[in-house]
Amino acid sequence: MTTATPRYDGLRLKKFDDAAFDDVDALRSAVDERIEQLVAGNGQNDSLAKAMRASALSAGKRMRPLLVMLVARDLGCNSPALIDVACSVELVHAASLILDDLPCMDDASLRRGKPAIHIQFGEDVAILASVALLSRAFGVLSQAQDISPVTRARLVATLAQTVGDQGLVRGQFEDLHGGARSPEAIATTNELKTGLLLGVAVDMAAIMCHADDNVAQQLRAFALAAGQAFQIKDDFLDGAGNDSAITGKDTGKDIGKATLINTLGVEEAQRRLAACLNEADGCLAAAVGAKGRTRHFMGALFSSQAKGKRFMADATKPRELRPSAHLAELRVN
Ligand code: IPE
Ligand code: IPE
Ligand code: MG
Ligand code: MG
Ligand code: MG
Repeated sequence: MTTATPRYDGLRLKKFDDAAFDDVDALRSAVDERIEQLVAGNGQNDSLAKAMRASALSAGKRMRPLLVMLVARDLGCNSPALIDVACSVELVHAASLILDDLPCMDDASLRRGKPAIHIQFGEDVAILASVALLSRAFGVLSQAQDISPVTRARLVATLAQTVGDQGLVRGQFEDLHGGARSPEAIATTNELKTGLLLGVAVDMAAIMCHADDNVAQQLRAFALAAGQAFQIKDDFLDGAGNDSAITGKDTGKDIGKATLINTLGVEEAQRRLAACLNEADGCLAAAVGAKGRTRHFMGALFSSQAKGKRFMADATKPRELRPSAHLAELRVN
């Protein structure tokens, strides 16, 4: 029997065919439907409109909007405005990926199993689409129904802080210009470029749900630890030998950059990944209990195995995470 080459289809959670994942699938569809409306524009179909839609609607995991929705559910809150809050975070993420792939940044040509936006539409249109998606994200927050003025202002301020020169933008700058540096400095970069967007997802859920300070702090600690783990795992996926048909993006884009893998070495990076996941798991359980939907989702996200595993399970095994052959040469300590 021949095995078909797996094709990239975003997060393949459907194999977890229990009720909880039907729910995640339903939420994911709701997010996609709403994003479709939010990037419909004025019905234009020129290359700018197409680039925005191609970026926002391609097959991503939708981890950040799902985090907003699932954390809110775990906090017992079901405001109809949550979907727009969730979509605003995903629009920021989509915008950041367009820029990240540009020749002047990571110079990547494949994203979510398709040619990167600048390959499809040209660099000029890609940059404009990114700015437009970012702007749309704030527009969505400013217009979402049924949010009090105070809550709306907090949401907008939190998202702005996350994106800006003390947030994601600084993280990307450090990633490109930081040079060889200590593991702590790299972890800070990872927090800025990756962790903060997970952090803002749970912060926004906590704001919308009026969570108490202790719960909000535990949620943020969960998201930042999960962000560290996520970036290490992502960096392993960049290693040569991984299959772009599965990851949906090019490999080898981090060669020459300081990552935790090439700085600490493979084994220590795996240990750190495991430690971050443990910490994330503990904080999430402390915030919303051990049986929440978010925990179930994160377990699936970090595990390539069948359902029923604990959050941590299997996430750190190198079996399908191959570091680049060049990494050993790049150690900085
Ligand atoms: C990619 O994020 C960028 C990183 C922070 C590593 P995701 O892995 O969540 O990308 P999509 O949205 O699923 O494509
Ligand atoms: C991603 O880091 C951070 C952002 C896109 C903000 P990477 O550059 O490792 O992400 P991928 O691997 O291209 O998705
Ligand atoms: Mg990058
Ligand atoms: Mg990249
Ligand atoms: Mg990467």
